[in-house]
Amino acid sequence: MYSTNRINKSGHNDCNDSQKGPDLFCINPPELSRGWLGHDTIFLDKTDSTNKVLKESAEALSEGTMVIAGEQTAGRGRMERSWSSPKGEGIWMSFLLRPQLPPAECSGLTLVTALALTRALRNVTGLDLMIKWPNDVVCNGKKIAGILTEMSTKDMEVDYIVVGVGINVGTMEFPDEIRNTASSLYLEGSKELSHKVMIKEFCREFEQVYPAYIKTGNMSTLRAEYEALLVNLGRTVSVIEEGNAHIGEAIGVNDEGELLFKCNSEITAIRAGEVSVRGVYGYV
Ligand code: BTN
Repeated sequence: MYSTNRINKSGHNDCNDSQKGPDLFCINPPELSRGWLGHDTIFLDKTDSTNKVLKESAEALSEGTMVIAGEQTAGRGRMERSWSSPKGEGIWMSFLLRPQLPPAECSGLTLVTALALTRALRNVTGLDLMIKWPNDVVCNGKKIAGILTEMSTKDMEVDYIVVGVGINVGTMEFPDEIRNTASSLYLEGSKELSHKVMIKEFCREFEQVYPAYIKTGNMSTLRAEYEALLVNLGRTVSVIEEGNAHIGEAIGVNDEGELLFKCNSEITAIRAGEVSVRGVYGYV
């Protein structure tokens, strides 16, 4: 069990210069968020995965609790991939939701998070960030941030959802396997690199889009904005399903957040999590 509203494991402000990404570790949690998201925040210098930390303690924590780590030793990505999370190079954070929605209506929350994140990062960085369906934030064709959403159900109802967000902020070099597809806000020329400023702006944006989604249980009021930021829109994409690639056009998303994929004049709605979508000539 973790107590909340503290700066690090020892419970005091640790402003060690050797700590990269220092602005986060020198602040009080209220500076991060004025609303319900991040009101309770657990800062950890190092952990395996912030999603895992939240899942293990979810029962005792309230909605909006956030875990932020300086470094993850076993960061996890979508599709059972790993997520490189070196010390101080990015924002590695997770937060807890308890939406009053049936589980089937929660899949769009990952797109809603991508929308809030893209809005926030566009506001503070000055970069032309876009969304690669369903929830990657991209810049100049390369991935800057990713989202891993995990749901736990009890008696057919949502018990909790953990949303994990990884943002490459200051990364200068990536592991070989993602070198050609990943980038960071620093490498793309962001005018802002403060973790605190970004998290605060993300919390503010998320608190706007989340109620809009909860009200309807779908993307109906957010879909137009999401599509306007969708880098895949109108592009030829490759949908990889159980090892087979289908080539077609991404023509939008529906209210459920599924990708509308046109192939041989037939339109199919594709659910996130079931397939991997790539550009034909590159990552997007
Ligand atoms: C993806 O694009 O594959 C999703 C990446 C999600 C990474 C974040 S970093 C914070 C949180 N903890 C994890 O282990 N994963 C998520």
